[in-house]
Amino acid sequence: MASSKDWFHLPPFIATSFSLFFLLLLFFLIVNGRRPQLTSLLFNPTPSKNHTSSASNTYQASGSGSGSGSGSSKKRGVEGCNLFDGRWVYDESSPSYPAGSCPFVDSGFNCFRNGRRDLNYTKLRWQPTHCTAPRLEGKKMLEMLRGKRMVFVGDSLNRNMWESLLCMLRHSLQDKDRVFEASGKQDFKARSSYSFRFIDYNCSVEFSWSPFLVQPWDSKGKVKETLRLDMIDRASTRYKDADVIIFNSGHWWTHEKTSKGINYYQEGDYVHPRLSSGDAYRKAMTTWAKWVDEHIDPLRTRVFFRGYAWSHFSGGQWNSGGNCDGETVPITDDKHLAKRYLVLISILESVLAEMRTPVLYLNVTRMTDYRKDGHPSVYRVPAGRRSPETIQDCSHWCLPGVPDAWNELLYAMLLQGLR
Ligand SMILES: *[C@@H]1O[C@H](CO)[C@@H](O)[C@H](O)[C@H]1NC(C)=O
Ligand SMILES: *[C@@H]1O[C@H](CO)[C@@H](O)[C@H](O)[C@H]1NC(C)=O
Ligand SMILES: *[C@@H]1O[C@H](CO)[C@@H](O)[C@H](O)[C@H]1NC(C)=O
Ligand SMILES: *[C@@H]1O[C@H](CO)[C@@H](O)[C@H](O)[C@H]1NC(C)=O
Repeated sequence: MASSKDWFHLPPFIATSFSLFFLLLLFFLIVNGRRPQLTSLLFNPTPSKNHTSSASNTYQASGSGSGSGSGSSKKRGVEGCNLFDGRWVYDESSPSYPAGSCPFVDSGFNCFRNGRRDLNYTKLRWQPTHCTAPRLEGKKMLEMLRGKRMVFVGDSLNRNMWESLLCMLRHSLQDKDRVFEASGKQDFKARSSYSFRFIDYNCSVEFSWSPFLVQPWDSKGKVKETLRLDMIDRASTRYKDADVIIFNSGHWWTHEKTSKGINYYQEGDYVHPRLSSGDAYRKAMTTWAKWVDEHIDPLRTRVFFRGYAWSHFSGGQWNSGGNCDGETVPITDDKHLAKRYLVLISILESVLAEMRTPVLYLNVTRMTDYRKDGHPSVYRVPAGRRSPETIQDCSHWCLPGVPDAWNELLYAMLLQGLR
């Protein structure tokens, strides 16, 4: 671009087109500024009078590039900052809740209880490059959620994240008995939905199992099982009126049945004899996106989507001896990050970018890729039940651990709306 000095010496016709350009830009900004001020409407009963910033739009998939930052190294507020561009730093202070202290961590993620004793993986904090993200203050977050419902929707990795948030919030309570599962459910794997109520805040933090987001189909009478790519999961009735929804869907599209795609994917009455998981994922995500655009009221509900989180199996896959035990430090050299191109990620990002509803994208893919040290590995089961044949878990995350950092960024994004 021309420096300000050159600007004054431009031939008139260029100056005119520049003015036109700026007028258009201004118009665009004004129109854009009319987007519902989600956060202020959602979290302040009376909309704030300061509708100046575009902060609430900052992290839309369409808007936030990677490290698109100004190049300024000065730390500033989180507004306009790409929170997902950063690095992991060692922080001696304790994790968000002491290892082994939280009853909401299910056994498969409870590495400390299961005997993992290296604890550095609980002491790494995510440090964005261009700003300082606030630490999650449980009480403040609960206050934000007062009278509201927050629902995590997706697969077991979202359950992982949901358990992490429950623990972070619970840890801030004086009386830890003031939160409980609404219908007394205990085993966090068995059921398709859970609702934890924080009674002093009249709010609930829930999980709804829906690994594909679209509807698995069990045609009655026949044994054949298909996946309806053109129908939103029935679970949607449970969460569509929530105030905050955090979606994910990823790993299940890489499993055997989905990736082979033989007589598995269905649209209407038609069962595709063969469909690639990429094509199926695009169709499913498009079904989901249309549903969100039609059924979610953006003035009421904030919609997040959490991006793909890498697994770190080496020497095989989950069912063929893949392992990650003995990993105690994250990847430090960017060259060792996953080089594999994952088509699912670009499909997801292109679908999000086309949506009318402003979806806040938790772009955790890269930050998570560093954390080969954060998985349960053999510590997914207690010492007594381990054998050399024990399948290792290099997909989910120990708690406390990596999902706590995702929740801190979720908090930072919600917090912006309070301004
Ligand atoms: C609006 O912003 C100004 C300056 O940033 C601040 O002093 C004032 O309290 C704000 N008003 C509201 C209603 O938030
Ligand atoms: C998400 O982050 C990755 C890596 O930092 C980046 O390449 C990608 O463009 C980001 N996606 C969006 C939609 O911002
Ligand atoms: C944990 O990290 C700190 C700081 O990097 C290091 O000094 C210490 O040796 C590490 N501990 C273990 C057990 O790896
Ligand atoms: C609790 O929140 C619900 C909305 O989720 C609201 O309808 C109800 O009035 C609230 N109850 C109290 C006691 O504030």
